[in-house]
Amino acid sequence: TSCVALIVAAGSGERFGGDRPKQYQDLGGRAVLHHTVGAFLRHAYVDAVQVVIQPGHRELYDAAIAGLDLPEPVAGGATRQESVRLGLERLAARDPVPDFVLIHDAARPLVSGATVQAVRDRLDEVPAAIAAVPVTDTLKRGTGGLVSGTVERAGLWRAQTPQGFRFGEILRAHRELAGAELTDDAAVAERAGLDVALVEGNVENLKVTNRDDLAQAAMLMNASIP
Ligand code: CTP
Ligand code: MG
Repeated sequence: TSCVALIVAAGSGERFGGDRPKQYQDLGGRAVLHHTVGAFLRHAYVDAVQVVIQPGHRELYDAAIAGLDLPEPVAGGATRQESVRLGLERLAARDPVPDFVLIHDAARPLVSGATVQAVRDRLDEVPAAIAAVPVTDTLKRGTGGLVSGTVERAGLWRAQTPQGFRFGEILRAHRELAGAELTDDAAVAERAGLDVALVEGNVENLKVTNRDDLAQAAMLMNASIP
């Protein structure tokens, strides 16, 4: 069986701001995207890595992935969902078409090899499996600055990527639901009626959204050096 990683990097990072989109910011001497791509390229279960970018970021992209062996990037769309669909369409044109696809945010550079492996392994039994971590904080509902209730925490998970799928099934789901503006691919799969399994991810696998997240990622990277 073949397994391809699809990394979506076509966002503009509006919440992050700064001189360049967050996936091209420096993290310990390399671009965020370089770390993300590297995690999949060096994984024994991953046969190929396809990146989706904004064509206007081409120079930043070329600099970020210098030294890595990657196919021509796909041009992304206006929403994350559209970027994923365009990436899947490119993979559908491959011969042979992959059996499995692991869809991952460029903005999650600290994904562990164990998380990638756990998601891929689960796909032997189910059509869809996502990395996620159980919620540990107590959750409050707020209304006008006041607590209006406590939300039952049991059974709640924070969804991460990678999110893995049987290729044909997620392609069909994305075609059916184009334009729905769902924020992850599991939501697309759920709407299409697929069973989605939860796989425990690694807590360091944060999504760089704001400046503080990048600082935290840098600390976690250093902390993991023995
Ligand atoms: N993404 C994409 N195409 C889009 C929007 C997002 O490929 N049109 C990618 C981002 O590059 C990122 C991932 O989807 O790797 C998760 O999206 P998010 O964290 O929201 O990133 P941005 O959309 O870039 O950030 P913001 O929402 O703050 O603008
Ligand atoms: Mg976004």
